[in-house]
Parts: sequence; C-alpha cells; structure tokens
Amino acid sequence: MKNKEVVAKAVFDVVKDDLTIEQVEQLLENPKSAAHGDVAFPTFSLAKIYHKAPQQIANDLAEKIDNTSFEKVEVVGPYLNFFMDKKKVSHEVLSTVIKQGEHYGDFNLGNNSNVPIDMSSPNIAKPISMGHLRSTVIGNSIAFILQKVGYNSIKINHLGDWGTQFGKLIVAYKKWGTEEEVRNNPISELLRLYVEFHEKAEEDPSLEEDGRAAFRQLENNDPEAINLWQWFRSESLNEFNKIYDMLGITFDSYKGEAFYEDKMDEIVELLEEKHLLKEDQGAEIVDLSAYDLNPALIKKRDGGTLYITRDMAAALYRKRTYDFAKSLYVVGNEQSYHFKQLKATLKEMGYDWSDDMIHIPFGLITKDGKKLSTRKGQIVLLEEVLNDAIQSAQDQIAEKNPSLENKEQVAKQVGVGAVIFHDLKTDRLNTFDFTLDEVVRFEGETGPYVQYTYARAMSILRKANFTPDKEKNYALDDEGSWEIVKFVQDYPEMILEAADKYEPSVVAKHAIKLAQAFNKYYGNTRILAEDEQQEARLALVYVVTVLLKEDLRLLGLQAPARM
Ligand code: ARG
Repeated sequence: MKNKEVVAKAVFDVVKDDLTIEQVEQLLENPKSAAHGDVAFPTFSLAKIYHKAPQQIANDLAEKIDNTSFEKVEVVGPYLNFFMDKKKVSHEVLSTVIKQGEHYGDFNLGNNSNVPIDMSSPNIAKPISMGHLRSTVIGNSIAFILQKVGYNSIKINHLGDWGTQFGKLIVAYKKWGTEEEVRNNPISELLRLYVEFHEKAEEDPSLEEDGRAAFRQLENNDPEAINLWQWFRSESLNEFNKIYDMLGITFDSYKGEAFYEDKMDEIVELLEEKHLLKEDQGAEIVDLSAYDLNPALIKKRDGGTLYITRDMAAALYRKRTYDFAKSLYVVGNEQSYHFKQLKATLKEMGYDWSDDMIHIPFGLITKDGKKLSTRKGQIVLLEEVLNDAIQSAQDQIAEKNPSLENKEQVAKQVGVGAVIFHDLKTDRLNTFDFTLDEVVRFEGETGPYVQYTYARAMSILRKANFTPDKEKNYALDDEGSWEIVKFVQDYPEMILEAADKYEPSVVAKHAIKLAQAFNKYYGNTRILAEDEQQEARLALVYVVTVLLKEDLRLLGLQAPARM
C-alpha cells in the first residue's frame, strides 16, 4: 500500500463520522522537509465540524490514532505528521522489486490493443533533420512506455516520399545531375539538385511547370520516372538507416506517403458520397468552419492530391489494418494545424475513431540560438552530431577509465545515449538549444551521468558478489536509504504519468533524481561495511540498478555494466 493510503486509513478510523476516506486522502500533504515526516494531515477543515481550534484537534486525534504502522506520529501546531515505519515499508518495496525485476511498474491498461505511432518520417532526398531526430527518439520512447502499460506499439515511419518535390527532383537530376554523384553522396547531392532547382526556377518559372509535369508522370506510373524515384528513395533510405542503426532504433513499417497513392481515390469518393467536397476556384475542399478551422484542401486545381489527402488515406488504412485503440503522430508543433484539420475532416466523414488520433507535438531544437532550416542549407548533419558525441565520450573514457574493455562499444552507447537523453529530458514542448559539450558531460543532468551511476552501482554489486534472495527479509531504517526507497515506491505512479502524458521526460527526470539520490547515499554511507544491514543495503543497490536500467531502456538508451 502507498504511504498516503496507510495514513488515510489510520486517520479515517478516528474521523469516520465526519469525513469519508476520500476526503481524508484529499487533505493529505507531502511535507516539504523530511523533518516533518512522510505524510501530513492538516486539521483546519475539521475545526468547523468539531468547533475546536485545529491545534486542539491535532492533539486529540494523535491520542486516538492507531500508530502501529508508523515510527511515530507527531503533532506540530495544526498538523499531524506521520513518519512511516521505514523497516516495514523498505522491506515491502525491496521485496516487490526483487520479485518483479524489470516488470516492476508494468500495467495492463491497454489489454495489448494496437497503438500505431507515426514517428521519424523524414523526407526522401533531404537530410534527416534535428526535428526528425526528436520525432524518432520521442516516438521510440513513447513506444516503450506504452508497451510497459500494456499496449502493443507499432512504430511507423511515414516517409515523405511523394509529392511535387519529386517531380522537381527528377527534372533537376535530368538537367544537372549524374548517376555517379548521386551514388557517391546521395543525400547531399539530391539536396544540392533540389536547391539548384529552386534557384534556377526563380529566374525561369517554366521549370515549376516541368516539375509538376514530371510529378504527374510519376503519378501515372511512367516507368522512367518511377525508376528514378525508386532509386532516390532507396539511396536516401540507406542513409537514414545508418542513423537509425546508430540510434539503435527500428521500425515496424516504412509505409510512407507514396504507399497511399492508390488509396486516395477512395477518400475522394467517400467525400463525394457524403457530399462533403466543395469546389473552390477549381480546387476541391472540405469546409471546416464548424470546427473553426480553415477548409482542408483535398485536391489541387491540376488534380494533384495533397499531404492531408495522403494522411486521410493513411489514417483509414491504419484503422482498418490495426483497429487501433489510439493512433499517435509524433510530429513537430508547427504541424498542429494540419492535424486539427485532419481529425476534423475525418470526423466530418462520420469516423468517430478520429477522436482516438492524437497529435504529440514537440518544440524546436535550435543551435546557438538559431532555428535550423534545410532550405537555406544550414543543416546540422545528424550523423556528424552523433559521431562528435561518440568521440567526446571516447575522450572522457580514455581519461577516467583507460583500462576499460570494449571501450569503443561503450563510447558508442554513451555518446549516442547522451544525444538521446538530452532530447528527452525536458518537457517535449520546450524549445532547447543544442550544445555538444553540455550534452555529453558525465556530471549534471545527462544521460552519461545516469549510465555512470548505473555502472557504479553494478560495480558495488560485483565487488560484494551479491545476488538478491527472493525469500529474504531485507529492511533498512536509515534516512539515506529512505530517500531512495521513496523514489522506488513512486515508480509505478511515475510510469502511469509518463504514459498518460506521452512524456518521456517524466521518466528521464525520475532517472536523474534516482541517480542523484543514489550518489548522495553512496557518498555518505559505507555500503560494504560489515554490519547486520549490509545485505539490505546491497539489496537496495540492486533495486536501484533494476530501476535505472529500466528507465534507460524506456528512453532508448543502453546501460553498460562498466564504464
Ligand atoms: N514528412 C513530414 C515532415 O518531414 C512529417 C510526416 C509526419 N507524419 C504524418 N503522418 N503527416 O514534415
């Protein structure tokens, strides 16, 4: 039972006639300082009922309360301060984690129902941006967190592999590109061609029409156009996969926008059947004024379909394929309006399941205070960022632990982990600046710090040659361990919060706090001292390793046992 529940029950037993147990629970507070106990009950609200001063009421209650579950119950002015029985609670908590291992904090909220997660989704022929990195790592972590609470996460990379830009690219390639250059340096060469197209088109607007014509050829399955497109796509995907491999992230599906090309007619037909399509200057739109939104543009004047039309087809496909409980879209907050329109249009069509589509927005990453944009060519190449981070981790390991075996592998886990953790540790809607030095530090609120704490705890267990015994009664009653025990106690609730808010930062923050509490404990306590609580202390260290490792896993980081 949670501490608050234990206290609520004890208080309720003596105020039964005047308050319900829920009312008592609502009144309970978490004291700010440990000197005021673990849970406090303020008596103010009873003053009106008992016609007595709150201080007096606190004294009266203290005398009547059954204090067997507590170390002590203290009266401080109008408050009753409850100090939990540390031995009892620590025993319960430690034995639960030792029994459940990494399944501690698992739930079955979802009954294994499907949750497709639209994530990463970079655009072919362009470098994967910091924004796509955010989508990738946030989506990946949400997939793990939802899995932990009982959903079946399905990670979908909705590649941006369709649209007029591919017509432009085909034109640019035929005019100014060579096969060799694209083979040698796919993304940067394709990007160069794309940028060149836009520069030239400023002087010669007829290029735009050529681009549209080339895209129409693509839509009409012209073999040459299709071949080029397929080639650009697979070269790009190879490059993306290098980054996904470095991040250790996989997908269940790479069905991107092109996959829905032949599924959009149905959408248009359905809209027509439901009399939702309106003509507007030759284009086809759906009126969304009932939702206070601008109309959704479904078909352009030239008959070409749009991003939103493909997203409608994708939503319907996912509903039919997965019968999802929820369908998530981890996409930057600059697309919030698009997702509002998408949901509204589907709702107009009578699809109530559109309520289960959830846009999970996130803020921008800036570098040195500036916004990053691909158009102007100021791109931060992700691969470079990751390689720099790995190099920095390597340097620090060489300094701290030069004799470490598999140094290279650990440096990778730490460097890449640092970038991921940095991205996940702040509320996802926050905008943040990216500075490599800050990301890869072994101290402070970083991934390496959490990993390092885990490795340190593991080394204590190795030194003591400790394995926990499920049958043993481990119990601790010192203040240092109590702080950690409380973090462990809060763990399941933390998981629920992270899942409910789709917020990996909740997990990251818990990991940092737990690591800090553990390091404080480690600094103040002789864990290996040979006294009667040695084994219990080691059990606590073991429990810390279980939770830190699970936190790291949920965030998508590795937990090296030595570093
Ligand atoms: N490719 C798009 C972009 O880079 C993101 C796609 C997001 N997913 C979606 N279903 N619309 O902006």
